[in-house]
Amino acid sequence: MPVTAVIGAQWGDEGKGKIVDAISGDYDFCVRFNGGNNAGHTIHNENGQMVLHLIPAGIFRERVVCVIGNGVVVHPQSLWSEMNEVMAMGVPLESMRERLKISSRAHVVMPWHIILDELQESARGREKIGTTSRGIGPVFSDKTGRHGIRMGDFVRMREREFRAWFTNEFYRNVTIIKALYDGMIAMGFSQEAEEAMNDSSADSHIRELLALREVLAPYVCETEELLWEAADKGARILLEGAQGVHLDPDFGTYPFVTSSPCTPAGACLGSGLRPVLLTRVIGVAKAYCTRVGSGPFPTCIKGSLQEALRKKGNEYGATTGRPRLVGWPDLTLLRYSANLGVTEWAITKLDVLAGMRLIPVCVAYGSNGKPIYKAFRGWNEDIQQCTRFAELPPAVKKYLRFIEEKTGVPVKYISTGPKREQIITR
Ligand code: IMP
Repeated sequence: MPVTAVIGAQWGDEGKGKIVDAISGDYDFCVRFNGGNNAGHTIHNENGQMVLHLIPAGIFRERVVCVIGNGVVVHPQSLWSEMNEVMAMGVPLESMRERLKISSRAHVVMPWHIILDELQESARGREKIGTTSRGIGPVFSDKTGRHGIRMGDFVRMREREFRAWFTNEFYRNVTIIKALYDGMIAMGFSQEAEEAMNDSSADSHIRELLALREVLAPYVCETEELLWEAADKGARILLEGAQGVHLDPDFGTYPFVTSSPCTPAGACLGSGLRPVLLTRVIGVAKAYCTRVGSGPFPTCIKGSLQEALRKKGNEYGATTGRPRLVGWPDLTLLRYSANLGVTEWAITKLDVLAGMRLIPVCVAYGSNGKPIYKAFRGWNEDIQQCTRFAELPPAVKKYLRFIEEKTGVPVKYISTGPKREQIITR
């Protein structure tokens, strides 16, 4: 059976959670392949509303096996509290036990990663990346720098070995933090850093982590082997991406990017599935653009219109609550993402654009680097009730066909509202 991936085609926050939640019923496996709890996937379904950060959105489907893949980084405290939230939303513990699998190769976020993220950001001053402060950059640095610890080792090491490993890494990081950031800490830049990394705190971190590994251990396994076997038996597998192509460390707006791959190729890397199996890649794109954190954003809307769209689209970070910058649609971004392997689009939040007289759509950049727009006539109709493509107002159809024409990729899904059923499939 071919494998499907869902990836963000802009700067994250495109509504991937909604798309995965809507289609995951057609799959046997739902696999997160990148990022960590920097992601926030908002789900509205019959169980209520919840923001998922680490657990794949398929968890609310009774049969779907949910995998946290090798490409993900796991913050044990956050994962455990998210598991409890999911259970409070009606997923029984036995079902979670059966269906949630964590890769033994996924790296673990340690207390120093979060502290270092915060200190590195403060030290950048005006060049801040605007990270989510979840330790993502430092934990992926440790992964490639070969100082990290993976879930398999974390839960299977003898207690004595874990204590020794933790103590050694803790003091290595205290040394780094003191050498580089002592001045900043003394100036009160991070009270948390001081408290989390003093001698007496090592033992309380160890105790907390030992308790967490106990509860997480039953979920840890060699997920790549599970997925190989499933693929060979013809299982339907959905790979769920976090962030978006333009936050990818290679293809995004470096250095204002995240630290793990967000591309279709990254979906194979972060799950262990053979690239040849990945024949369907759904690129999720908002009908306009948003960006949170720092970095270039050429189509950013000026003035009060931006605030109006932010409010209407509820454009506030699902993880950090930060207001997102809002911009006009940018088809050059989508064309770029399409070149990395998108085979169909899911366009989200089209309903938010209703009521605009004109919609400027960026189609290219001039030699001065400024966006070149083509203006589209807007629509006033509320499209939230539309269930078929044919029911959409002519102006909406025209805009969607233009996206197809400019990117060479067909629009397969159109999300017309936050609820699971508010989606048009073509
Ligand atoms: P980090 O991933 O926390 O290191 O943040 C790096 C950049 O990626 C910052 O600009 C963040 O705002 C952005 N970012 C990370 N995760 C997400 C996400 O899930 N949605 C949108 N932006 C994100």
